Amino acid sequence: MIYKQIIPALDIQDEKSLRFLVDELANEADIVKVGMELFYSHGKLALQLLQERELKIFLDLKLHDIPNTVGKAAKTLAKSGVEILNVHAAGGVEMMKCALDNFKTENPSGKLIGVTQLTSTSQSVMNTQLGIPGNIDDVVIRYAESVRTAGLDGVVCSALEVKRIKSLFGSDFLCITPGIRPKGCASDDQKRIMTPTQALQAGSDYLVIGRAITNEKSPKIAFQKILKDTQNELDC
Ligand code: C5P
Repeated sequence: MIYKQIIPALDIQDEKSLRFLVDELANEADIVKVGMELFYSHGKLALQLLQERELKIFLDLKLHDIPNTVGKAAKTLAKSGVEILNVHAAGGVEMMKCALDNFKTENPSGKLIGVTQLTSTSQSVMNTQLGIPGNIDDVVIRYAESVRTAGLDGVVCSALEVKRIKSLFGSDFLCITPGIRPKGCASDDQKRIMTPTQALQAGSDYLVIGRAITNEKSPKIAFQKILKDTQNELDC
């Protein structure tokens, strides 16, 4: 059932593209991702259209502010019935706990996830521009530890880090992995990438795939091809 693990990222801003993608993917995917660009452009409409077509929603807003503000935002967003919401682990344990309490009060079955280090961030950018010393894998583990301490359901991380995270924090600690590129696709701005097959073999629970699906003429066919190729590779 790997179709349930692939989350197409609806990274678009206009209503026409939104309606097109919903039509293309409604009978293919189980869950899709609404990020900042879509939410800030057509948030209410997007959630309504997706819910009408029974698509689950990963609302990728990466909340990061003082605990009180993030808590209130998480409460409001939880009321919209999204399946998954995320916050930045860099906001710290108190912020994540506040988000969790508020989110689960409104949406007990929803999942709250902590973003570790963006998959577009390289080791040198993290060290020199963000001022975080050390090895990026170790930094991701420290973030994951804070996420676990705060009691969240799992992390957004690179597929490269999944094995270590699962071994340290348990197989039920969810790993959602962007930075996925089917063989032959350009890496674009992503730095720490894996193919869908490699990510699933590493133990990723969900793969977020954006441009490799949404930039294709038929996102439906692109989604189906990724599923088929991945299943074939896993069967080999
Ligand atoms: O087009 P592409 O497959 O690179 O899209 C990846 C998606 O995952 C984007 O919507 C991006 O915002 C999101 N994301 C990410 N890295 C994270 C968290 C989310 O790339 N750490």
